[in-house]
Amino acid sequence: MQEDILQATALHVRQVFERDSSGHDWWHIHRVWRNAIAICRHEQADRFVVELAALLHDLDDWKLNPSADGTPAQALAWMQEQGVAAEVREQVREIITHLSFKGAGVVNGIRTLEGRIVQDADRLDAIGAVGIGRAFAYGGHKGRLMHDPEQPPQLHATFEQYQSSEGTTINHFHEKLLLLKNRMNTATGRRIAEERHAFMEAFLAQFHREWDDADH
Ligand code: ADP
Ligand code: NI
Repeated sequence: MQEDILQATALHVRQVFERDSSGHDWWHIHRVWRNAIAICRHEQADRFVVELAALLHDLDDWKLNPSADGTPAQALAWMQEQGVAAEVREQVREIITHLSFKGAGVVNGIRTLEGRIVQDADRLDAIGAVGIGRAFAYGGHKGRLMHDPEQPPQLHATFEQYQSSEGTTINHFHEKLLLLKNRMNTATGRRIAEERHAFMEAFLAQFHREWDDADH
């Protein structure tokens, strides 16, 4: 029964995200789902809640669905249609609502173990080689400059500031991606993040070397 719901959910989400070009395509969801399952092996968590939240986490994301009012309406409607118990729907709702990074200075609202696992799984996909690729895909999707040496990064104190920022993709590394390693919730997440973080540092060093050497 739970397995059937997960399979149907994966198929549904795959159809919704098939054509996304902002770094939130089906394969992002698939990687987060897999990451979440891997982290679950080291934690005593409710795996059904974790998998369902991982699969549904971006359906109502503010970056993709700007009109959303904070309730993950599509995820809730889907779960209801699938006959998911009210208590599970509430746990998944709470996770999805607090999952997203909302600015360097904004307190993380995630509270449950299941939520911490899904958040780590999502964050692992924002860093490392895949994370670099996704950041530039998102920047291109939003029409952002790749880099502007005259524009310093900003550490956003509120979600509103973070949300309305139109900074460059290189600045996004300093405003979010490089901060994630020290904000991981689980030991497994932290371990994987270390290596991906080091790769981003090396990428940025090389990027700036090439940028500065351009007029030799
Ligand atoms: P979150 O919910 O924490 O925002 P997502 O799974 O929705 O996580 O993915 C966010 C993705 O969007 C990341 O890969 C990140 O690099 C990209 N992104 C978000 N804001 C920006 C930005 N201003 N510039 C470049 N990439 C961005
Ligand atoms: Ni995501």
